[in-house]
Amino acid sequence: MHQPVQTPTAKESCLSLNRILPRLRNSFPEEVGSADWQAFEDRLDDHFPQLFDLLWRIYGPSYDFFFHIEAILQTAVQSWLDRPADLKSLDAIREGHPHWYQSNRLVGAMAYVDLFADNLEGIKERIGYLKELGVSYLHLMPLFKSPEGDDDGGYAISSYRELDPGIGTMDELRDLSSELRQQGMSLVLDFVFNHTSDEHEWAQNAFQGDEEYMAYYRMFPNRTEPDEYERTLRPIFPDAHPGSFTYRTSMGKWIWTTFNNFQWDLNYENPSVFNAMAGEMLFLANAGVEMLRMDAVPFLWKEKGTSCENLEKAHLLIQAFNTVARIAAPALVFKSEAIVAPDEIKKYVSEKECHLSYNPPLMVQLWNSIATRDARVLSHCLQKRFQLPDGCSWVNYVRCHDDIGWGFEDRDFHELGMNPADHRWFLNRFFSGAEEGSFARGCLFQHNPVTGDARICGTAASLCGLEKAIAEEDEHGIDFAIKRILLLHSILFTVGGIPLIYLGDEIGQLNDHSYHADPGKDGDDRWMHRPKFDWERAEKRKDPESIEGRIFNGILKLSQIRMNNQAFHECTTEFVDAENHHVFGYFRTYNGQSILCLANFSEHPQDLSAKRLRQLGMRKTFTDIIAGKSIVATEKLSLEPLQFVALL
Ligand code: GLC
Ligand code: GLC
Repeated sequence: MHQPVQTPTAKESCLSLNRILPRLRNSFPEEVGSADWQAFEDRLDDHFPQLFDLLWRIYGPSYDFFFHIEAILQTAVQSWLDRPADLKSLDAIREGHPHWYQSNRLVGAMAYVDLFADNLEGIKERIGYLKELGVSYLHLMPLFKSPEGDDDGGYAISSYRELDPGIGTMDELRDLSSELRQQGMSLVLDFVFNHTSDEHEWAQNAFQGDEEYMAYYRMFPNRTEPDEYERTLRPIFPDAHPGSFTYRTSMGKWIWTTFNNFQWDLNYENPSVFNAMAGEMLFLANAGVEMLRMDAVPFLWKEKGTSCENLEKAHLLIQAFNTVARIAAPALVFKSEAIVAPDEIKKYVSEKECHLSYNPPLMVQLWNSIATRDARVLSHCLQKRFQLPDGCSWVNYVRCHDDIGWGFEDRDFHELGMNPADHRWFLNRFFSGAEEGSFARGCLFQHNPVTGDARICGTAASLCGLEKAIAEEDEHGIDFAIKRILLLHSILFTVGGIPLIYLGDEIGQLNDHSYHADPGKDGDDRWMHRPKFDWERAEKRKDPESIEGRIFNGILKLSQIRMNNQAFHECTTEFVDAENHHVFGYFRTYNGQSILCLANFSEHPQDLSAKRLRQLGMRKTFTDIIAGKSIVATEKLSLEPLQFVALL
């Protein structure tokens, strides 16, 4: 089974292109010779060797390899020819300025369309609000056709070419993307390519017994193979769906379903699946999507005896999709969603694979520091793995629509003399509010009594103590909660990479329990932290004394500071030891500008000695660009409780 695959030589790939090219030209006789066609051939010259090599390593020794590679190029050329002229201009702009996403001018936001603004029309009306915050990257959560009732928040897609009718139409989406572009905003959508819903046409055909489409999924006649696989798999939603397979009585088959039983994993061992999904990807790109959030990347490839996560061929597949994009929609950028061990996350990030990645290690370490008021593990962890390959960047977030899982590298804790298992349990107790003295109001998610694992749900504000403090009318607690929210966001906006705001967090929205009343949502506690955006509360941002105003204006200021200071460009960050456990510190330097950021995680004032500042290369006087104050640190620098400073 596992014979080593010989990689093709440059000569072989050139020969193969010479064989395919005339056939492609024959399929598009009208186009050959046009400038558009020439542009395609030029890109093919540049990228075909890479594509050929990748596909060979994935599918190589099969008798119909050349048929498939030709089919994939047919898809690419057709999509390129269909690509609207304004997007082709964008391609040219991006090719001239490929690392635009590393800019300090980029600020991201994410939302569910229906919860934020009802529908696409509503999003258009809210562009003003987004611009107010400086948003230039807008991630709209899945908006495609999906099953009625539970659809995993839209992550069970029934068609990649039709929208959920309540949200709008494809034409409206195209229209919105071009409107956003004119306003300086890039549209980001999910590419949910590990699975489709069981109502997707392919799944329906498979359901009817169509062999061609049955081969799009992974189906087994009995438990023999599923049992063999499950020996080494971890269940993702153990509460809702133990194991990774679902039995369909009418088909008499066990189907691979990593997530929910209505989400069928695609079978990428079948090259037709790659081709079909490449077509869907380019369709999205041609609708004006500039960045794809590559959903659930670790799970794409499966092999017995492994965890079926992060396998080499998963990487090769993403690289192959990336190469197809370089040929037919070069402006398209990939963002990896790999919520796995820190050392695995980085393996998805390179210009060949995903240009950007969520930064879960930062996210979980920030919450760890919020609970422990200690920045040591945070510094230790980031020092080791913050740096990315050239041309790549992080997407930094405090929380997203998913749960918070304590995906630490155990080693990091051992190295600091801590017990990772105990510590995870402490964090679960802390953020679910069970730990004495905790200010957080979250809840446990997918508690697995067998392994003791659990994750956490909750909005940023509720986890930072705002919900509890408001309920207890504790002014002091409210003040601390706001400071914690701003402290977390201060780091997001300055540490290096694109800051991504979960819309609603900027006005301190609390947990929402109304999902229990909706049968499509009840049972999945992630809905607790996906409240409907409260536009009445958002209005209160105009009152600077209100809770909403304090949080909103704090984040707005961060956004402006980020955009106005080149030091926040890219993500080359030097983490420093502030010689105070409560304080997290780093230098940002770019183009001659250097800024020292310091974050105090404690509710007590913390000092940094003047000697330490001097050792870090700081002069006696400097300016804190957050407070807009100049500081003379003759003996020490005092940070207020939960204060963040950026010293220039
Ligand atoms: C991603 C999404 C998550 C979803 C899963 C399955 O991880 O973020 O919400 O449940 O993929 O598509
Ligand atoms: C797991 C998966 C991640 C997904 C999440 C949904 O952590 O690794 O991809 O987002 O479950 O809760």
